[in-house]
Amino acid sequence: MFGLSVRLAFLAACALELPASMAAAADDPQIARGEYLVTIGGCNDCHTPGYFFGKPDTDRFLGGSDVGFEIPGQGVFVGRNITPDKETGIGSWTREQIVTALQSGQRPDGRVLAPIMPWHAFAQLTEEDVTSVAAYLQSLKPVTHQVPGPFKPGEKVSTFLFRILPPGETAASAPN
Ligand code: HEC
Repeated sequence: MFGLSVRLAFLAACALELPASMAAAADDPQIARGEYLVTIGGCNDCHTPGYFFGKPDTDRFLGGSDVGFEIPGQGVFVGRNITPDKETGIGSWTREQIVTALQSGQRPDGRVLAPIMPWHAFAQLTEEDVTSVAAYLQSLKPVTHQVPGPFKPGEKVSTFLFRILPPGETAASAPN
């Protein structure tokens, strides 16, 4: 996760640029709660393209990142499209399947999400809150955007990368 103060500063800077779907959703208390949790959960950081380059693409809010995280021994994982697009997002997942992914990291296809997706932390949400997050995600505007990956260790990677270095390694000694 990224520094709360950094995120708060970012949120303050972007407060005027919230997507229209977020404003409309606020009428439903469950969706409004989900929106609140998604905002403080930092989902936007890793799931909206452009965020790490200082220009989050609000038209593609939560539509999948353009940055991959390399985890030693596990591969490279890009923040996926978590809008309700059926082909490239999670539009074909039920609410229960989204809740399961947030609580146990398990996708409907059985793959367990890489720990860079902070599901270990989100597993602490109450049942009501995690359901609100899922309801909010399902209320979003679907964005068609297929993120690349996940890539296995050693596979050729087609995205900008954040690399997590094992203890003791420096950037200079890391392989390119
Ligand atoms: C630090 C970065 C980061 C943050 C913060 C983050 N995610 Fe993720 N998330 C990821 C990555 C990376 C993946 C893909 C992991 C993989 O493929 O194994 C992912 C995957 C997912 C998936 C599974 C999608 C799929 O198609 O498999 C869901 C659902 C999800 N995130 C929801 C959320 C929600 C909701 C929040 C905020 C409450 C959030 N994420 C915050 C990085 C993040």
